[in-house]
Amino acid sequence: MAARVNQNHQAAPVPPEGVLVVMPTYNERENLAAVVGRLRTQVGGAHVLVVDDGSPDGTGQLADQLAETDGQVHVLHRPRKAGLGPAYLAGFGWGIEHGFDVLVEMDADGSHRPEDLPRLLDALANADLVLGSRWVPGGAVLNWPTGRKLISRGGTAYARLALGVPVRDVTGGFRAFRRETLLKLDLHDVASQGYCFQVDLLWRALRRGLRVVEVPITFVEREHGVSKMNGAIVREAVTRVTVWGLRHRADQLGRWARQNASREPRSPRDAR
Ligand code: GDD
Ligand code: MN
Repeated sequence: MAARVNQNHQAAPVPPEGVLVVMPTYNERENLAAVVGRLRTQVGGAHVLVVDDGSPDGTGQLADQLAETDGQVHVLHRPRKAGLGPAYLAGFGWGIEHGFDVLVEMDADGSHRPEDLPRLLDALANADLVLGSRWVPGGAVLNWPTGRKLISRGGTAYARLALGVPVRDVTGGFRAFRRETLLKLDLHDVASQGYCFQVDLLWRALRRGLRVVEVPITFVEREHGVSKMNGAIVREAVTRVTVWGLRHRADQLGRWARQNASREPRSPRDAR
């Protein structure tokens, strides 16, 4: 059953308070219905918001059909492909406006198993942000080519080093946020467009001292359609993570210098 963090919350008219799974889609016609069906079976209380960027393959229309027959499925249509980050921001905005207490990020291609979601929601009882993690004990990736595994492991290793974070899966996209967590992240100035949106939000949460917990998941590579990952997405991630890392190190250095300056002995007598 879905985690209800705040039973007393007064909901906006459309859906009741509870869990909203935000699902960005671009050309996922072959995958969407199956994933939504599994999700609705696994976590019956959860609502789903499909955020479609005008998919040429008709994913948006299919989502509309699903919404017509299921009152817990909703659709946000956006005019053109604008990246994962803006799609999630639009979805979160919709969910917060409609009074949901828990907002979940989930891919629409079947890679994130709805069967793992109850464990993510359970973990949110003692966390502000729960990460579905492929790279903790118990986590796994099925059917990924070696090259893709290397990009993901390399990306996480680089981000861990640059930002000095102890998290194992920094770029994963299966996550559960409390509504309050999102409100604390100052989402209005998120500029990340591609998959580095995931690093961006995690980094914001960690810097604000929020409780972040990793829960093992099994990531299953899609059977239909293609990944939207490309060179520009990787380049954006490397550039932004490097800038955040350098800024972070400069801040650390500044703090260290200020601390040392204030500790400096004022006179030889103080120094003793
Ligand atoms: N609306 C919208 N707009 N949806 C998009 C866009 C976009 O520009 N780009 C991708 N999506 C949707 C896809 O349709 C899918 O539902 C989900 O976002 C993930 O995209 P994939 O293309 O399947 O990602 P992936 O399998 O290569 O990458 C996965 O791993 C990454 C690295 O760990 C995802 O889980 C990413 O979130 C993750 O960062
Ligand atoms: Mn995928």
